[in-house]
Amino acid sequence: MAARGTEPRRWQQEADRLAQASIERGDPTSWFEELYAAGEAGEVTMAWDHDDPQPLLAAWLREHGVRGEGRTAVVVGCGLGADAEHVASLGFQTTAFDLSPTAIRTALGRHPDTKVDYRAADLFDLPEGWRQAFDLVVDVYTVQALPRELRERTVGAIADLVAPGGTLVAVQGVLPPDDDGSGPPWLLTGDDVALFAGHGLSEVEVVADGSLTDYPCWRAVLAR
Ligand SMILES: C[S@@+](CC[C@H](N)C(=O)[O-])C[C@H]1O[C@@H](n2cnc3c(N)ncnc32)[C@H](O)[C@@H]1O
Repeated sequence: MAARGTEPRRWQQEADRLAQASIERGDPTSWFEELYAAGEAGEVTMAWDHDDPQPLLAAWLREHGVRGEGRTAVVVGCGLGADAEHVASLGFQTTAFDLSPTAIRTALGRHPDTKVDYRAADLFDLPEGWRQAFDLVVDVYTVQALPRELRERTVGAIADLVAPGGTLVAVQGVLPPDDDGSGPPWLLTGDDVALFAGHGLSEVEVVADGSLTDYPCWRAVLAR
């Protein structure tokens, strides 16, 4: 808890510190729960705290008139649930998962009447039956939140969720030329984005767009 009368510290610096310590102990993902727990305790501001869906995701869904009645969706690394709630509002039977139990608990607390099936789950150890099970798979910023060494594995695990005939929408930050790659986040090159197509998916659209967000993002849409 922040001392009385003091503001909680900004989460971004704590993310850098926790991620570095986590990676040094050979565990590149334990810092997410630590960071959300620090946010819940009021020691830092809550990480990735937003109510609106990611703008490039929302724009694609809107521009394509996507409706989800009778179809399933999964939101990977869903954090506090804004994208999952948006996808569910379009009629998809929506599952959303995150490694962090605190993130999932917070998402449920913020959306008490939710139709989303929120789960604490690890992308690298997913429940039985999720393989190629979802008509729409959404990932916003999970790939970039994990070190480059895990990139192929991360992309493969996300792609593996897409059902035959299904669609993946992945939104990730574009690696700028002056980024030293030390992360977090570990932003993506065009070659990184192309990895999605190596897992039985075909590219539908890849754009890099900086008009709607603080930094340019890739929006990659693929189909199985
Ligand atoms: C950069 S945050 C983005 C959160 C959310 N998608 C958003 O845009 O607000 C990345 C999220 O991925 C989650 N995550 C990281 N590794 C994961 C894994 N192996 N399985 C599931 N979730 C994971 C983290 O806990 C975190 O919530």
